[in-house]
Amino acid sequence: MICGSVDDGKSTLLGRLLDDAGLLHVEERERLLTADPNSPDPQYARVLDGLLAEHAQGITIDVAYRSMELAGRRYLVADAPGHQQYTRNMITAATSADAALVLCDVTQGLTAQTRRHLALLAVLEVRHVALLVNKLDLVGYAPEAFHALADGFGELARRLGLADAQSLPVSALHGENLLERGGRLAWFDGPSVAAYLASLPVREQIVGPLRLPVQWVHRLEDGSRALAGRLSGAGLRPGQAVRIHPGNAEARVVRLLAPEADLPEAAPGSSVLVTLDQPVDASRGSVLAGSEEPPTVTDQFQATLIWLGRQPLYAGRRYTLKLGTTRVGASVTDIRHRLDPTDLSATPARELGVHEIGVCNLALDRPVPLDAFRDSRETGSFILIDPFDHDTVAAGMVRHALRRAATLHWQQAVVDRHARAAMKGQQPFVLWFTGLSGAGKSTIANLVEQRLHAKGRHTFLMDGDNLRQGLNRDLGFTPGDRVENIRRSAEVARLMTEAGLIVLTAFISPYRAEREMARELFPADAFLEVFVDAPLSLVEARDPKGLYARARRGELVNFTGLDAPYERPTHPDIHLDTARDSADVAADAVLEELRRRDLI
Ligand code: ADX
Repeated sequence: MICGSVDDGKSTLLGRLLDDAGLLHVEERERLLTADPNSPDPQYARVLDGLLAEHAQGITIDVAYRSMELAGRRYLVADAPGHQQYTRNMITAATSADAALVLCDVTQGLTAQTRRHLALLAVLEVRHVALLVNKLDLVGYAPEAFHALADGFGELARRLGLADAQSLPVSALHGENLLERGGRLAWFDGPSVAAYLASLPVREQIVGPLRLPVQWVHRLEDGSRALAGRLSGAGLRPGQAVRIHPGNAEARVVRLLAPEADLPEAAPGSSVLVTLDQPVDASRGSVLAGSEEPPTVTDQFQATLIWLGRQPLYAGRRYTLKLGTTRVGASVTDIRHRLDPTDLSATPARELGVHEIGVCNLALDRPVPLDAFRDSRETGSFILIDPFDHDTVAAGMVRHALRRAATLHWQQAVVDRHARAAMKGQQPFVLWFTGLSGAGKSTIANLVEQRLHAKGRHTFLMDGDNLRQGLNRDLGFTPGDRVENIRRSAEVARLMTEAGLIVLTAFISPYRAEREMARELFPADAFLEVFVDAPLSLVEARDPKGLYARARRGELVNFTGLDAPYERPTHPDIHLDTARDSADVAADAVLEELRRRDLI
């Protein structure tokens, strides 16, 4: 891949390389998209994969792929636009790149943008990075100008942990040190750009652990099954011993099916259909691996995240994680620290904004097979998707599994929720009241609790104001704190229902995402979202605690309805209008709905 800043001469350089090297053709995105997905050229397949993935996610990308041939080797060059708003494109280009050429203008030095690119390349572990110091013609081909920049780059590369980094002086305009050494840059004792490229190993030559994330299970005519997917890390042959994860089942490869004839061997990067000598338990998301170097099967791990969402990342919020061929519910349990975008130094953080990079702990709904990104890009990288609008909100690289995942088990008590509820003669459920401060949540919840109590029901009312004086005393009203407030409170509500209680909660709970997170903790029929609806003008006029007035005076910030959002429920189970109805009438309506649902 190639990237650079504004006006650094990238098009001139590309034009030169492609022209002088004999431009074969410019690959259009459409062409790649319509290309044969079983193309034997693994490099094409990889790029195609990236494109298809992006296509499926509805992201318009702007990475131009060009093909060129240089000294008998074919290159696919991803030309990534450099501006920060194109971070997604940088990521797309970098995840499929064997090497990166980073252009910089010798008269500008290492700009903030160049540093950001280098940091991203380090995070995405692009193995070979060359800084092309361009426009040496503008400084009379002076070695000092180049060396000063090259030294700075060397130092930065060490700090970033770039595995293989070097600087090459060039003049794109005059074609110096591009295809051949010498000329005005004869003082440079390193390679030309062409020689540098020729010296690079391609990823298929780099062996890693054998992985085949199962895309689907194919039923053959004779009733046997074949696992379909793309192979990475190492080749596969009939007779080879493999294991299927999760489960660690052992089997041997029988056939590698191809449309024409069976393959004697499949190379990394190729798409294959594998039949096994054992009927193993496998489905989309399983991983076929070699008998050695198994992936880790875990539901908790640490990862580096590049945040892409318009809304910041808050710990505790739920997303869909897509890793290899797996999709699984996930949340960030802890933002460990934020990494500086130019040198990757760490600072503590409570949230991550758009284009920020951070190290986070994640928890999954179930254990899945994965690897450290360092060991396998295919099973070590993932994206996070917003479950509401299907936007890709983060690109992630697995660092390592968290051990505690393997040592924690849910203790199944013999006396369970059913037994506890049966003794109370009731069915536990949650009434989740949501609405603006002053809308009447606590008042109505109180009335409902009194009536349930009068009927001999065992209840518990959890009120935001009260919990914030104890369990949630450490939390304020920033978005991140509210997410955590609701996460903790929902977990407590769950424990209360486990105890057999009917739980009523009164939290503003302004975000749809956390209300859904709360809902998912309970059986489908045991969670009712109760929207206590009242217009802002009315609750502000009521202002029972005088807080709206204080917020208007600027004494309180992040006040819901004023300078903090309230996302109205779109499909509440119960919708109460307190502008129209008294608290008594509203409480009756709740009881009525509970009877209708046979909950009481
Ligand atoms: S939530 O947003 O995290 O769900 P919660 O219901 O626990 O909020 O707490 C809201 C209560 O805190 C309000 O009823 C109000 O009394 C008080 N409060 C203090 N500051 C704020 C604020 N900035 N925004 C909203 N409520 C606030």
